[in-house]
Amino acid sequence: MKVRAIVLMGFMGTGKSEVGRRLAQRLGRAFVDTDQLVEERAGKRIAAIFSDEGEPAFRALERAAVADAAGRSGAVIALGGGAALDPQNVRCLRDAGILVYLTARPEIILSRVGDGAHRPLLRDDPRAAVTRLLAERGPVYAAAADVTVDTSERTAEEVVGEIQQALARSERWKSST
Ligand code: S3P
Repeated sequence: MKVRAIVLMGFMGTGKSEVGRRLAQRLGRAFVDTDQLVEERAGKRIAAIFSDEGEPAFRALERAAVADAAGRSGAVIALGGGAALDPQNVRCLRDAGILVYLTARPEIILSRVGDGAHRPLLRDDPRAAVTRLLAERGPVYAAAADVTVDTSERTAEEVVGEIQQALARSERWKSST
């Protein structure tokens, strides 16, 4: 049987990559980060893709990276913060496994993303962008999520433990493993 993937989604600064790496290590699974796949394929950083080619070009690369990651049986997948807004990505990821939504309070996100230098969507005014994007995206993430874990004031290791507990309670996860 195909081993189900564990997909971490949510806003920038919720710890998807750091938590995903640790979760994969703890479970002995492969780890894939869609932002990293995009950068490897494009041969440049995400900020450069946005400035040279624009956001639509980045989203097309991201869609291809999501399809690639979803095909890696049993991987822990960390998504870029916008990937789960695309219904095609969500369908593909739900077929591959379970979607774990990582959340954090706005003040915590702001303290984690700093000046937003490496994140094109936050570069101009991080506070205003975080407020606006969280309001737009929160309901979309919530609708796609199988389980939700709050990362505010938790270390990455604590979040890994919370995810394991949440999966153990999830009927969708239990019935697919
Ligand atoms: C984005 C989040 C970033 C990256 C790109 C766009 C978004 O990933 O994919 O800058 O639209 O939220 P992280 O969530 O890993 O910062």
